[in-house]
Formats: sequence, C-alpha cells, structure tokens
Amino acid sequence: MHPDMKVELAGLVLRSPIMVASGVLGSSTGLIKRVSENPSVGAVVTKTVTYNPRNGYENPTAIDLGFGFLNAMGLPNPGYLDYKNELAELRDKIEIPLIVSIGPSNSEEASEMVKALNEVSDGFELNLSCPHTEKLGLEVGSDPEKVRRITASARKYTSKPLFIKVSPNVTSVVEIARAAVEAGADAITAINTLKSMAIDVNAMKPVLSNVYGGLSGRAIRPVGVRIVYELYETLRVPIVGCGGIYDWRDAVEFILAGASAIQVGSAIACSRSGLNIFGEIEKGIVEYLVAKGLSNIRGLVGLAHTS
Ligand code: SIN
Repeated sequence: MHPDMKVELAGLVLRSPIMVASGVLGSSTGLIKRVSENPSVGAVVTKTVTYNPRNGYENPTAIDLGFGFLNAMGLPNPGYLDYKNELAELRDKIEIPLIVSIGPSNSEEASEMVKALNEVSDGFELNLSCPHTEKLGLEVGSDPEKVRRITASARKYTSKPLFIKVSPNVTSVVEIARAAVEAGADAITAINTLKSMAIDVNAMKPVLSNVYGGLSGRAIRPVGVRIVYELYETLRVPIVGCGGIYDWRDAVEFILAGASAIQVGSAIACSRSGLNIFGEIEKGIVEYLVAKGLSNIRGLVGLAHTS
C-alpha cells in the first residue's frame, strides 16, 4: 500500500510534506507557478517582501562554498503593494497553498502588510530571522518582546495560518518561538541561515559586498535538526524543518526530530536533476515508510523522541 503523504499543517492540507523555502525562487511568479505544478510539492513560500521596496545589495551577493552557500542578497523585492498585484494573478493559477513571506520591521508594518496581502495568500511566514539586514529580520527577531508584538499585530488581521521563521543566531530559539506562539503563531519554521562571512585571502577583503551573509546548505543541517528537536520538546504547535535538506534522508531526519513538514531551499540551486529533486525526495520518503511499515507520514513525526 502506498503510504499517505498528506499533512495537515496549521489548518492547511498539503498533498506532500515537501515545501519550497522562501527566497530560492526569487520573486518570479512564473517560476513559482511552474514549481507548484510539480506533484511532489506541497506548498510554496514566496521570497520575502518588505514594507518598502528594496534594491538589495551590490554584487557579489552569493558564493558556493562547496559545503553550503553564503549569501547576502539584501532582501531585494518590489515592496508589498507592488508584489500584491503579482500575487493576485498567481493565486488564481496555482492549486497548492501559497504562503507569503513578509519581513516587517515593526508591528505597524506587520499589520499593514498582513491586511493588504490577506486576500492573495493562504498563509504567512514572518521572516524575523534574516541575519544581515538593518532593522529587519534578526534585528527584530532576536528580541522576544518584539517578536511577541509583531506576531500579535499580524494575528489581529488574519485568520490564515501564521508561521514564524526563526533564527539559529540567538541564545534561546525556544524562548523566541514561545513568544511567537503565545502571541498567536500557528507554526514555527526552523531555521533561517547562520550569520557568517568569508574572506578572499588574495584580495585580503571580505568576499560579500555586505561583508556579512547567511550560511545555508549541507553545513547547517545538524543545527536545524537540533533546533527542531528542541522546539518539539517544548512547543505544541507544528514545526516546519528547514536547513540543508538535499535528499530523503535529510528530510526524514528533520521529521524524526519533530518536523511536520520540511522546506527545500539551497538544494534546488545545485540539484543535478533540477526540479525532479522534489519527486526524488518524496519517493525516498515513501520507500522508507514502506520499509518501516508505516502507512502515513504523520506517524513519523517526532519518533526520535520516543526511541
Ligand atoms: C536575503 O535576501 O539576503 C536573504 C533572506 C534571508 O536570509 O531571510
């Protein structure tokens, strides 16, 4: 029997637990549509939009380190009002949940953005974790009181699922996530990138134009798995695992740690099989479930905690 891969995530029904992480498809709605047609993709998260348009940083903005990617794009986006029009068109064309990632710098921005984008989204992921943008991301997401206020403001204007994407660059992720949940978050996405840098030894200068960036990819998977495990021990809301998921084993590891769904990001950029990566991950999970005698993916969530 083919195991049931459907998951219920904060009120959304996903045909597969595999989601596309924010950022990786840029803000191209054409690409989002194409990816959404892949039957192994359960939901898509958009590139983060901010209150005001942002040009992003100068090049170089990304480098492949072999064991992961270092990037500082600077959250380039047209601003939430412009992007709203594009999302409105897209929403009617795709059949899976579209989660809109927003990066507010304060409560007022959070409420304005959620109010405006509510009708064109199936849920929101609040990016309170980008590690290298002034007055955004981690600068607000490392303070539990700001997280509480921003989450509560977003909550006021939507009954749709509210995910908070947390950062590993804080003393206690559990404290930050708990503040978000107490203020009304439905789920936690863990984790965003690790604040990092690289130096060009010939030029004797930082490689990225912004100096600091975020490390993603293979190298950060153990950090992500540890954080999902810790969150699962203390929170009673679904967790979406993210960080260095390249194949079915990586996905299963996150699910065993406590993730109800997973997001794939960096792996898409270097996948030799292109968008088939989603099908390959799903096939591997299905075979694993069959081998373990499990009839559905839900039965796998958090199992590492009981063994
Ligand atoms: C970026 O646009 O620079 C990355 C976004 C993020 O880290 O959340």
